Amino acid sequence: MNILIIGSGGREHAFAWKISQSPKVNKLFIAPGNAGTAEFGTNIEIGVTDFTAIRKVVLENDIELVVVGPEVPLVEGIHDFFLADSQLRTIPVIGPTRDGARLEGSKDFAKQFMMRHGIPTAAYFSVARDNLEQGIAFLQSLKAPYVLKADGLAAGKGVLIIEELPEAEQAVREMLGGMFGQASETVVIEQFLSGIECSVFALTDGHDYKILPVAKDYKRIGEGDTGLNTGGMGAISPVPFADEVFMNKVEQRIIIPTVKGLQQDNIDYKGFIFFGLISVDSEPFVIEYNVRMGDPETEAVILRLKSDLVDLFEGVAQRNLTDRILEIDSACAATVMMVAGGYPGNYAKGDVISNLDNVSGSILFHSGTQFSGDKVVTNGGRVIAVSSLGTSIEQALENSYRNAATIQFRNKYFRTDLGIDLLK
Ligand code: AMP
Ligand code: GLY
Repeated sequence: MNILIIGSGGREHAFAWKISQSPKVNKLFIAPGNAGTAEFGTNIEIGVTDFTAIRKVVLENDIELVVVGPEVPLVEGIHDFFLADSQLRTIPVIGPTRDGARLEGSKDFAKQFMMRHGIPTAAYFSVARDNLEQGIAFLQSLKAPYVLKADGLAAGKGVLIIEELPEAEQAVREMLGGMFGQASETVVIEQFLSGIECSVFALTDGHDYKILPVAKDYKRIGEGDTGLNTGGMGAISPVPFADEVFMNKVEQRIIIPTVKGLQQDNIDYKGFIFFGLISVDSEPFVIEYNVRMGDPETEAVILRLKSDLVDLFEGVAQRNLTDRILEIDSACAATVMMVAGGYPGNYAKGDVISNLDNVSGSILFHSGTQFSGDKVVTNGGRVIAVSSLGTSIEQALENSYRNAATIQFRNKYFRTDLGIDLLK
């Protein structure tokens, strides 16, 4: 079959790499893709929310399956767009419709969903301009630090964690006043949970689900988890503390109630569910839902997926996922994200990347690259995800770090402390 992947990052390159290995694939297209995805299919230079242009590409190229990488097209209703179009209706889309995508698109919705279905999460109060007094009272009832979240999508920047109460009160007012535009017209005030985080992924056809390998990502720019938040500086899979006992709790208390809850709420959800979890004294709580795979977690997790991803997607489309086989490699995977100096602040683009051909023992997933003539140049803050397998986390990391040292571009940077927290 012909497949279209929507997106342009390392996650989509990892999907392209994996999907292209499937005997079920005829032609692969990536919109818009990057210099890395071009090796596995045809890049098409259109925006991820230009549904009219996507429609044209799908019809012209006889696309039979669409895999949506990022959240924005899902929240904006790409799946609904397909269902409403007589020529696109029968083409399966991997990714939820707009109602399901609200799990990521509205933190208030996600909180209400968890409360309704008894899913463990931090206590919260949703505040808007008309109930500000109550919101401030709730804030005052909490212990520091204070967690404030813009309700809507804010490109990963909408969460503030503030130490002092007066600053937190001020921040609530500023958020409601438009700090994150429309996204913070409602603010979710949350109890702070102290623990260690991990990312759990499930693929669901709306009835059954398969649990993919668990991963940990590293969000801060600096060593020892310091400095500004980024899109993600690396990932490790598996996660030693997410052992069988913990994962059993996750499945019983979180995954099953989520899939059942979606059914009860009449949300026909087909796609990935990303559970951002925190382990508080070995008890799992949901920090957030995302309605897609993680980036850079995908770049690590995909190396451990032995099964045919297209076969699993077919299972989602045909709602017989339960009949498909998910086989996981017991090896460890480590992804080191190479970024442009200055990221997540200002950084340069267009710097030539060299030594890509001198890499061995790792797979490179391009995050922000493009071609300039026959050269590959930087085209984003996150540039290349260096992913490797190993018999241990240490060995997987060693492979990725060796190759991250080999690849060169001006002002390259990567964290050198990934995984150390897990090895203690
Ligand atoms: P989110 O965008 O909801 O994943 O939040 C971003 C980050 O803020 C998370 O990865 C956590 O590190 C932190 N965070 C969010 N909510 C809480 C909470 N209730 N308690 C502690 N940390 C939190
Ligand atoms: N790595 C976290 C995310 O994809 O949101």
